[in-house]
Amino acid sequence: MTIDILTIFTEMFDSVLNASILGRARQAGLIEIEATDIRPFSASKHKNTDDYPFGGGAGMLMMAQPIADCMKAVCEKRGVPCLSNLEPHESAGVRRIYLSPRGVKLTQKLAQELSKEDHLILLCGHYEGVDQRALDKYIDLEVSIGDYVLTGGELGAMVLADCVARLIPGVLGSEESPQDESFSDAGLLEYPQYTRPREFEGMAVPDVLLNGDHAKIAAWRREQAIAVTLERRPDLLKTATLTEKEKRMLTVFDDRTL
Ligand code: ADE
Repeated sequence: MTIDILTIFTEMFDSVLNASILGRARQAGLIEIEATDIRPFSASKHKNTDDYPFGGGAGMLMMAQPIADCMKAVCEKRGVPCLSNLEPHESAGVRRIYLSPRGVKLTQKLAQELSKEDHLILLCGHYEGVDQRALDKYIDLEVSIGDYVLTGGELGAMVLADCVARLIPGVLGSEESPQDESFSDAGLLEYPQYTRPREFEGMAVPDVLLNGDHAKIAAWRREQAIAVTLERRPDLLKTATLTEKEKRMLTVFDDRTL
């Protein structure tokens, strides 16, 4: 997969792209991620990327022209179409995404869907937003990483790139890892985990994990995952994959949960 990031702050991506799992995946050629500076594409003398909003209002807006020209250059370099308005099933392997609090919320399901594309182009906004015409013509999808407002789209782009990249086969060490965790197919939060030593500051590892009985361990983990989900995110239980017995058990806790 290739991820292109269009931003006026390329330097923000240096450490994130080079460290840890993303850095290793890039070095191994499993994923290519590149941040491109929008500013040099500005046609204005001083390479401005923002201007006052028509109709007044607080703050500045990112102008359409530098974004459009940057998008065209990146698409031409990669040999992909740069215009939006394709239906998702016609995405031709490329999705152009604008990070914005106004977007659809990033979920594990959306990350899984995006991880199947060959190419993502992420546009990071700044100031009070972006001229709508740039979005109408060059963006397929607006994505928010949560119900709060960031100073710009860069942190959102990092979050999206990270959670998509780890779903690409080979990026994580073990193929099983992305399945057996929070927001996996079962839709439950993850059970508690323990490593050595067996006792830490007076707290022991639960006995069941030490006896080597894999069926018992699996049953305990499942029970814990359901308990933790019930406690912290009962909303997830509405869509989680549960057995009839588990559903009956949960109605004892709270009739309104399911
Ligand atoms: N830019 C500003 N706030 C954002 C958010 N919540 N998600 C994605 N991009 C953003």
